[in-house]
Amino acid sequence: MKTQVAIIGAGPSGLLLSQLLNKSGIDTVVLERSSREHVLSRIRAGILEWGTVELLREAGVGARMDAEGYPHDGCYLSNDDEIVHINFKELTGKQVMVYGQTEVTADLYNAQDAMGTTIVHGVEDVKIHDLHEAESYVEYTLDGERKRVTCAYVAGCDGFHGVSRKTIPEDVRQEFERVYPFGWLGILSETPPLADELIYANSEHGFALASMRNENLVRHYVQVPLTDKVEEWSDERFWTEFKKRMPKEIADKVIMAPSIEKSIAPLRSFVSEPLKYGNMFLVGDSAHIVPPTGAKGLNLAASDVFYLKNALIAALKDGDLSGVEGYSEQALARIWKAMRFSWQMTTTMHQFEGEDSFTTQMRNATFDHLKTSETARRDLAENYIGLPF
Ligand code: APR
Ligand code: PHB
Repeated sequence: MKTQVAIIGAGPSGLLLSQLLNKSGIDTVVLERSSREHVLSRIRAGILEWGTVELLREAGVGARMDAEGYPHDGCYLSNDDEIVHINFKELTGKQVMVYGQTEVTADLYNAQDAMGTTIVHGVEDVKIHDLHEAESYVEYTLDGERKRVTCAYVAGCDGFHGVSRKTIPEDVRQEFERVYPFGWLGILSETPPLADELIYANSEHGFALASMRNENLVRHYVQVPLTDKVEEWSDERFWTEFKKRMPKEIADKVIMAPSIEKSIAPLRSFVSEPLKYGNMFLVGDSAHIVPPTGAKGLNLAASDVFYLKNALIAALKDGDLSGVEGYSEQALARIWKAMRFSWQMTTTMHQFEGEDSFTTQMRNATFDHLKTSETARRDLAENYIGLPF
């Protein structure tokens, strides 16, 4: 096979890039390790920045999001029983959209089907070659047979455990990492949301988040030790812990409905530089991971895709290489700011085992500052709704 851009991975990064490039008349081949059913069954975050909303519309996949998503004007933060409202709309003029990443992925698949693009599932042993030649190629095994796609560019959209990042020699790569000593236990449950907007709650028992998908489906989380196993968390144990961490007026409204999904995800901040190696570019989780506090994961993938599709269109249509040359620097500038925001929100909202009383006072002071200073709230709002692309 021959294509202009070989895309490794059919998560949101790979599918959105493929969609935008094909819409501009650029040919792609997407190579995905898992089955389509598996990709579509993954439950991930559910908050889209407005820049992401607009990019999805540009990609032609905005219709269901606009019909079924919920624009939110703000969110709540709590510290024990005290609540502060961050009014994004008033502070920044912008909103965010509540619409699950699982739905975004489904919409992208449907749009790719309608355009007749090539997505190959079940590929094994992907290897990327000749990244410093005029033409590169990607090899893979499908049904026991070794195959090859020749291309001008490779987009590494294959997530944290993919092959693209590891194709860059170690002496070229620089990695930055912070692993947090806790994870998030998440449940999906068919019960109405507890408030009109999300609640990020801190308490002496740890962090909890009340999120939602629709009028009768919630996504809630509690901070748990990394050593905990899902099997140790009955629904009753989850709800009891969740209630302890929410402010009383919210906790009183909790209905302990059964969970329909339950999983634990570790929290990590990670960046690998550079994002360009010869003809290959890293996009989304293959290059960076954020902790979910602040919901930046999918939104950062979207801004990477925005920069890269512009760069690739300029290179492949007009021979203008300035965008591809500048991609890494341009994308990293925004990535680092989202890293800072999600790290700060994680450290101020979670309890660290064995933390000293000074740390607790710093958390309380941060919360107090948010309560009393509009400037502090605006800073949080500006980052939460997403810095401009
Ligand atoms: N070959 C082919 N495909 C691969 C390989 C490989 N060696 N390794 C991984 N993949 C596929 C995975 O199966 C997955 O479908 O790459 C895809 C990567 O998708 P994601 O992990 O979802 O990463 P990305 O598309 O960058 O999405 C950004 O936003 O909310 C966050 O972390 C969340 O998934 C989310 C991310
Ligand atoms: C979610 O709805 O899954 C969600 C929302 C906000 C976050 C993280 C996850 O910060």
